[in-house]
Amino acid sequence: MATPQSYSHSSILFFCLLFTLLLSATEPQEEDSPITRFQRYLRINTAHPTPDYDSAVSFLKAQAHSLGLQAQTLYFAPNKPLLLLTWPGSDPSLPSILLNSHLDSVPAEPAKWLHPPFSAHRAHDGAIFGRGTQDDKSIAIQYLEAIRNLQARSFSPLRSLHISLVPDEEIGGFDGAAKFVDSPQFAALNVGFALDEGQASPRDEFRVFYADRIPWNLKIKAWGPPGHGSRMYDGSAMENLMQSVEVVSRFRESQFNVVKAGKAFNAEVVSVNPVYLKAGLVSQDGFAMNVQPSEAEAGFDLRLTPTTDPEEMRRRIAEEWAPAVRNMSYEIIEKGPLRDYMGRPLMTATNDSNPWWSVFKQAITSVGEKLSRPEILASTTDARYLRQKGIPVLGFSPMKNTPILLHDHNEHLKDAVFMKGIQVYESLISSLSTFTEASH
Ligand SMILES: *[C@@H]1O[C@H](CO)[C@@H](O)[C@H](O)[C@H]1NC(C)=O
Ligand SMILES: *[C@@H]1O[C@H](CO)[C@@H](O)[C@H](O)[C@H]1NC(C)=O
Ligand SMILES: [Zn+2]
Repeated sequence: MATPQSYSHSSILFFCLLFTLLLSATEPQEEDSPITRFQRYLRINTAHPTPDYDSAVSFLKAQAHSLGLQAQTLYFAPNKPLLLLTWPGSDPSLPSILLNSHLDSVPAEPAKWLHPPFSAHRAHDGAIFGRGTQDDKSIAIQYLEAIRNLQARSFSPLRSLHISLVPDEEIGGFDGAAKFVDSPQFAALNVGFALDEGQASPRDEFRVFYADRIPWNLKIKAWGPPGHGSRMYDGSAMENLMQSVEVVSRFRESQFNVVKAGKAFNAEVVSVNPVYLKAGLVSQDGFAMNVQPSEAEAGFDLRLTPTTDPEEMRRRIAEEWAPAVRNMSYEIIEKGPLRDYMGRPLMTATNDSNPWWSVFKQAITSVGEKLSRPEILASTTDARYLRQKGIPVLGFSPMKNTPILLHDHNEHLKDAVFMKGIQVYESLISSLSTFTEASH
C-alpha cells in the first residue's frame, strides 16, 4: 500500500498540478440565469452621489441585444444616459406600452449591512442582498426576462413595447424622466399605457398604486423687533413663529387622526412634518441668551394628495400658517406637478372607466395572483411626469410576502419572489401588448 511518503516531491507536485487542471476543466462556467443576470446588474454601483450609469447602460444594452430589441441611448443632460429599448409590435400605429425603471439608487451605509450592499450576496434562504434589489433594479431585469420567455414561446406583440431605463429618479428625475417626457423622442413613442415601480407587500397579494403624493417644501419666516431679553415683547419673531408652529401642528393632528381612526391610508391625507427650526444669535458658546432674535424660520415637508386643491392649500398657508399681518412670509418649493396638461388631478382611474385597468387586473388574476386595494404612493416616482402627459400609469413591483426595505439597510429580495415576478410580467406584457379595444 502506497503511503504519501513513498512519492517523491516532484511527483507530488505533478499530481497537485494535474488535480488543479482537472478541477478547473470540470468546474462549471459561471451560471447564466435570470438570477445571475439580476446579480450582475446589482453589482454595478449606481448609487448617488456618483452613479455609474455608463456601466449600467452597457450591461443592459448587451441584454437587450441578446433579445434583438432596438436600443437608443439618449442624453437630456451630460453624463446622464437614458436607455430606451423597443420591441416593435406588428401594428405600430396603435398606442404603445411603456415599462419604466430607474437606473439609480440611494446610497447605502455598508457598515450597517449583513452583506456588502453591492455584492448581490445570495443567502441560504434565497434572499439576495443589495441596494436596488427592491428599488428598483428587480423590475428592469424582470421586464427583460419576461420578454426572453415570451420570445421563447414565439409570442409577438401587436402594440410596440418600450422599456425606459432612466437616470436620477432618486434625486427628483429632473434630468431624467421629466425631460424625457417633454422630448420629441418620447412624443414619437405614442404611449397609451405605462407601468412604473411600486412597492413590496408584506402580505400574500400584490400592491398597485394609481397616484403619487406631491411634495412641497415649505419655509415660513417671522420677523419682529430685536432687543434686550429682559423685556417682554409683543409680536417678537420667535413668538410669531411659535404661534404658526402650533397652527401647523393642529392641522397635522387633524389629518393624522383620520389615519388613526382607520378612515384613510397614510398616503390618502396631507402630511406635514417639521424638518428644521432656525433662530437665535450665535455666540461663542452657543446662542446669545439675552437677545431677542429679529428673525426666526421653520421648514416643513408637506405631501399633498392628488385631490388636494393647491389653491386652497396656498390660502391656508398665506392666511393661517404664515400671515403677513403677523410679519410673516413663506416660500413654497413645489417638487413636481399637481395637475396634468388638461388640469386634471394626477391619478389613474382604477375602475371600469379605464379599460387598461381591467386588462391589468385580469393579467394578474389569470396567473392566480391577488391584488390589494389600489393605493396612493406615499412618496413620489417618475410616474407623475407620465401622468402629467395624460397617460394612465400604474405603479407596480411584483413583490409579495416581502418586507418593505426600499432605502433601508439590508435591502433584499427572495430569489423565488423575483422569479415569480417574471411570470407576472409575461402575463402583463402579453395582455397589454395585444389589447385591441382601447381608444387611446
Ligand atoms: C410687525 O412689525 C412691525 C415693525 O417691526 C411692528 O411695529 C408690528 O407691531 C409687527 N406686527 C405684529 C403683529 O407683530
Ligand atoms: C372612476 O374613477 C374616477 C377617478 O377616481 C372617477 O372620477 C370616476 O367617476 C369613476 N367612474 C366610474 C364609472 O366609477
Ligand atoms: Zn424607486
